[in-house]
Amino acid sequence: MESPCRICGGVVKESIDLGRQPRGNGFLLPRDIENEFFFRLAVGMCDSCTMTQLMEDVPQEIRYHDSYPYHASGSAVHRKHFEQNARYFLEHELTGPDPFIAEIGSNDGVMLATIAAAGVRHLGIEPSAEVAEMSRAKGVRVLPEFFDETTAAKILEEHGPADVVFGANCIAHIAHLASVTRGVELLLAPNGVFVFEEPYFGTVVGKTAFDMIYDEHTFYLAVRSVKAMAELYGLELVNAEPLALHGGTMRYTLGRPGMRTPAPAVAEFLEQERERGLGEHAALQRLSASMEKIRHDLKSLLVKLREEGRTVVGYGAPAKAATVTNYCGIGPDLIPFIVDNTSAKQGRLVAGSHIPVVAPERFGEADPDYAVLFAWNHAEEIMAKETVFQARGGRWILYVPDVHII
Ligand code: TYD
Ligand code: ZN
Repeated sequence: MESPCRICGGVVKESIDLGRQPRGNGFLLPRDIENEFFFRLAVGMCDSCTMTQLMEDVPQEIRYHDSYPYHASGSAVHRKHFEQNARYFLEHELTGPDPFIAEIGSNDGVMLATIAAAGVRHLGIEPSAEVAEMSRAKGVRVLPEFFDETTAAKILEEHGPADVVFGANCIAHIAHLASVTRGVELLLAPNGVFVFEEPYFGTVVGKTAFDMIYDEHTFYLAVRSVKAMAELYGLELVNAEPLALHGGTMRYTLGRPGMRTPAPAVAEFLEQERERGLGEHAALQRLSASMEKIRHDLKSLLVKLREEGRTVVGYGAPAKAATVTNYCGIGPDLIPFIVDNTSAKQGRLVAGSHIPVVAPERFGEADPDYAVLFAWNHAEEIMAKETVFQARGGRWILYVPDVHII
């Protein structure tokens, strides 16, 4: 299968097929099972710009509806990270007279709240109504729209050029990323920067973190593909910084060509990616083979534990849990429920696999023998919180980078 590249118009060749899948964040009520949305989840790489991307898309209006359940403030580690981001911008980029920062996909205002508290001009662009409302309660100014060239022109007219355009865990979600990049190019001040943090393709491949593949992640960015994209749309990649967030994130900084000296990290990562073969179709083919092994190992482990009469529950219901449970064929018969601290997910079912999501209190009450850690990227925070579970002899099941018990 082939499809046109969303970035450069080249040819995207399919390498991974995860089959019929629901929306990662499509947590649903039992009464809505009949009308559940499914699509074919498949990934390919562009022959020309090497951008890894989904073969088919779910329309963004279906994904970022008014009650979009992902709340960026749900993790203490994330709250601290975004506050640090805001402080960095305030100290290093927002230092001129009356500076202005725009954030694409500002979610519940986790980053902009610090900017707002500092009295600096800002604008969040966030189409999901509930999270937008949560950020307003923190004093954050929000434009409830999708960001693209047209929105960028409107913002430029009303607020003037931006010193910083920021995006975290959203830029790689936007199928019309070409229009977003053109929009940012329009909106940036001469020495402005476009900074975004997204799950790193090198991590997905390196850790076999195939659960990062779901409908919202249209693109799987690498330094090489981001550099190609920047150049296509009149920008320059000037820095690439790895972060531990979401299991392995890369933070990219783009400026106008020639305005900033590129950090040595850009060339270093390009070389590293070349050595790892990340820009070749074979990288995806290897990932596909490792995923199949995890599917086999995880399912057989759960079946074995059930036969032995052990109790197993899930911990954390990220969008990733939908990919894993659907791809591996794991339903409530193997994992009766998953605990999660997001109130918007509790009382609902994981999309497709229909495993109920319940409040974290149920974890202690159930006192299970094993817990599958779907929120593995928050392992440290969660394990530190659930020491009683381990003290009672409970064991964690992890499936990244391979199936293991700790
Ligand atoms: P996350 O990995 O941040 O998101 P994504 O959906 O992009 O994969 O999701 C982590 C989930 O884990 C989120 O639903 C909140 C939940 N969680 C807990 O239930 N308890 C915790 O202590 C933490 C840190 C997260
Ligand atoms: Zn391309």
